[in-house]
Amino acid sequence: MKVTKAVIPAAGLGTRVLPATKAMPKEMLTIVDKPAIQYIVEEAVNSGITDILIITNRGKGIMEDHFDRAPELEVRLQQTGKTDVYDEIVSISRLANIFFIRQKETKGLGHAVSCARSFVGNEPFAVLYGDDVIIGDDPACGQLIRAYEKYGKAAVGIKAVPEDAIYKYSSLKVEHLTDNLYNCTDMIEKPKSKEQVLSLFSILGRCVLTPDIFDILEHTAPGAGGEIQLTDAMKTLAQTVGITGVDYTGKRYDMGDKLGTLQATVEIALRNPKLGEPFKEYLKELVKTF
Ligand code: UTP
Repeated sequence: MKVTKAVIPAAGLGTRVLPATKAMPKEMLTIVDKPAIQYIVEEAVNSGITDILIITNRGKGIMEDHFDRAPELEVRLQQTGKTDVYDEIVSISRLANIFFIRQKETKGLGHAVSCARSFVGNEPFAVLYGDDVIIGDDPACGQLIRAYEKYGKAAVGIKAVPEDAIYKYSSLKVEHLTDNLYNCTDMIEKPKSKEQVLSLFSILGRCVLTPDIFDILEHTAPGAGGEIQLTDAMKTLAQTVGITGVDYTGKRYDMGDKLGTLQATVEIALRNPKLGEPFKEYLKELVKTF
């Protein structure tokens, strides 16, 4: 079955990027000239997704406004002849069919995904973590969809992380299949000791799940940090039918982390067709003074 639906969990509290995220969702933090979540929606659309459910919570209405029309602004842009900006602004509201639902309590990523059950129905669907921006020529979400189509199993985006960092992430037991594809048969969220580490491959930012995940999530008890962990539910899939790990191409930026937001801004600005060159010159001069 074709994957046309995506879920973007964006209801986290963003405590690692406070105070920026006291009133502003981290998914709306700006990278150059667009909020992080717009890059993520564009990646989904470029992967063939037509329907997107964004999981929000209290105080995140600004995300709904961003993907809506903005009549007063549009009239002003037209009146002042700023047609390029007008077209760009209107096109944001036409990217996809975007739906919103509130996760009423912040009980973890697994719980956030379970809020998508009635939207998803009985179809495979993509999950794009709202604070992970991935930039690359071949959209990461599309790479996972191709893996799902190839093997008919759920697929997770994986990357090797440094040895001392694996304790903050998930750790996966994998066997190499071909190219950048792996068969994952076990996983653990935030291993507590070296003995629990299955490999340095971790799930980062993206997955394509089959709808049987919802029954599993219903019976998943709170795990690491007292939260209902998506990894704990995916572990059941890995141990029973297996999951395909895709070591995707593209650079991931963690918008839930202060250094990650700075890296995203600098690197994406350097690739910007208009700002890239002057920004590079500015940086070259600046580094001489530090
Ligand atoms: P994180 O664990 O990075 O989000 O979840 P967080 O809770 O905001 O992080 P802290 O407070 O800085 O440690 C990954 C993604 O899952 C969403 C987040 O919005 C983020 O996009 N999420 C997390 C939810 O939608 N609901 C939750 O209950 C938890």
